[in-house]
Amino acid sequence: MKKIFLLLFITTTLLSCGREPANKKEVISETEISNIEELTLLSKGEGLELLKNNCYTCHSPQSKSHDEMLAPPLAGIKYNYIKHYPNRTKFIARMSNFVHQPTKENAVMKGPVRRFGLMPKSGLELEEIQQISAFIYDNQLDIPNWFKEHFEEQHDKPWN
Ligand code: HEC
Repeated sequence: MKKIFLLLFITTTLLSCGREPANKKEVISETEISNIEELTLLSKGEGLELLKNNCYTCHSPQSKSHDEMLAPPLAGIKYNYIKHYPNRTKFIARMSNFVHQPTKENAVMKGPVRRFGLMPKSGLELEEIQQISAFIYDNQLDIPNWFKEHFEEQHDKPWN
């Protein structure tokens, strides 16, 4: 009987480990929550401009192929973050903590860190990064042409 439990425990641990976010630190401070709730939202134009100037150099939605990317498309990253952090405040807190201070431990996905190396720290203020993260949560992002097919191959389900 003990052996069966042990086996069950091992298989469930193994099965769940691919889906767990690497960053288990789920606690968000009261100040972080109120900052996020009081953020001034970016207009569509402001948001796109900030993404273009600060993120799309590496996370470009204009790339011609998967191989020429310097980093995963932001739409794919958003998909993963929403899976782990469907709640808007948590999503914004986690994403902006990473962008403000990227570390291997803080990354939600391990694959891209291995493939591309760790993202460099952004020079933006935390509040700006939170605004960008809120914009990413609230808006549909452009995807590169190759992305839909790549996603559907990887996940065996339609994109959107
Ligand atoms: C100089 C290139 C570069 C720039 C500029 C850049 N990134 Fe990244 N980013 C990366 C790379 C490479 C990765 C994949 C490796 C990793 O996760 O560290 C990444 C990963 C990420 C991740 C996923 C981390 C995780 O939790 O797994 C997020 C979120 C992210 N970037 C957001 C942004 C945002 C928002 C901006 C703009 C403010 C931005 N990045 C600008 C290179 C960049």
